[in-house]
Amino acid sequence: MKKLISPSILSADFANLEKDLRRVESAGADWIHVDVMDGHFVPNLTIGPEVVKALHKVAKLPLDVHLMIEKPEKLLESFIAAGSSIITLHVESSDQIKTCLQKIKSAGKKAGLTLRPGTSLATLEPYLQYLDLILIMTVEPGFGGQGFMMDQVPKIAQARKLIATQSHPIHLEVDGGVNDQTVGHCSQADVLVAGSYIFKNDPAIAIQTLRKLW
Ligand code: DX5
Ligand code: ZN
Repeated sequence: MKKLISPSILSADFANLEKDLRRVESAGADWIHVDVMDGHFVPNLTIGPEVVKALHKVAKLPLDVHLMIEKPEKLLESFIAAGSSIITLHVESSDQIKTCLQKIKSAGKKAGLTLRPGTSLATLEPYLQYLDLILIMTVEPGFGGQGFMMDQVPKIAQARKLIATQSHPIHLEVDGGVNDQTVGHCSQADVLVAGSYIFKNDPAIAIQTLRKLW
């Protein structure tokens, strides 16, 4: 599987999102990671479907939308219509996970599932057949710029094993605290999210460095 880099625009300049999209596009990014937070599922509040729609109008790369919202079923159709290419839900966020995943797939989008660091990977097992992506969180969801949780590294390898039990391809994405010091722990992943490391440095050099050390 090709290795992909998905810069998180949570660390971009929100007053100049189009400019920052162009910066990471020309720096060799593959996807754009969009962190959606509702102030309930996580303590932070970020962007909604209208901003995703606006980004979609100008983005040249697929939008990798990470929903950190309670009851994603309420807004799922809006995020699909807004132009998301990949939609990832938290397994803890709803009692209708299967219905949500099926809705994403039937709209022709990629469906992802993720979990908080404290949640067991086994909670994802009932949904594997519907998944195009598993996202391992290496920080507590809610904020950019946190430290990489080393205790989540074994989960990356476990997720790789779980994926090998399936006959269809599933991306393995890692999100949180990824930088030149921590990327070496993500060798089993095929998609890397990085926010602060990419946007607080020269994005082209940061992306090149991640690829080299991955
Ligand atoms: C955290 C978000 C991450 C975050 C990553 O809840 O899901 O995508 O933006 O930012 P860094 O790379 O700075 O940890
Ligand atoms: Zn994220």
